[in-house]
Amino acid sequence: MNPPHIACIERVLFTREQILQRIKEVGAQITEKYRGKELKLIGVLKGSIFFLTTLAQHIDIPVKIDLLAISSFGRSATPGFVRIAKDLDDSIETEHILLVEDIVDTGFTTRYLLQNLAGRGPQSLGICTLLDRTSRRIVQIPIDYRCFEIDDRFVVGFGLDYKQLYRNLDYVAVMAPDN
Ligand code: PRP
Repeated sequence: MNPPHIACIERVLFTREQILQRIKEVGAQITEKYRGKELKLIGVLKGSIFFLTTLAQHIDIPVKIDLLAISSFGRSATPGFVRIAKDLDDSIETEHILLVEDIVDTGFTTRYLLQNLAGRGPQSLGICTLLDRTSRRIVQIPIDYRCFEIDDRFVVGFGLDYKQLYRNLDYVAVMAPDN
């Protein structure tokens, strides 16, 4: 898909090439950090799947993958309310875990997931996000790996959606303000 053909998109923020370059760099950092160990990547549906698969291909150690989903039901009515709608398939006890997100905004989701996963006895627990929108942060959480920090603009692509559309764009774009 080409940006000019999508009326609600204002501009491309990060091209596919820029995203792949950063994922390569972050993947190399993760490889060094976990060298000699086995790593499990946990993706948060749905937004993280594009980042998760590309990141996994740029980590040069054995990785396992598991997925969970959070419920967005009631989140607008109760800010910060998060619950797991689809849990992991397997235990993470004694494993090295890296939670993989497409974006960290307020931090509520990540804080909840880190607390929940920590209670399952992993050997280590970290977080890696494609985008970090720190200007919207409400709860402070440690971010181990981030590809890009972005301003407070609504973005789509590379997994991020607007009304479930545009996740499949291979770039990250800013939505026009009147959407
Ligand atoms: C997004 C993103 C994070 C969460 C971050 O998910 O994938 O899980 O929001 O927001 P927070 O820091 O304010 O808690 P979303 O609810 O949009 O679901 P999706 O991944 O299915 O698009």
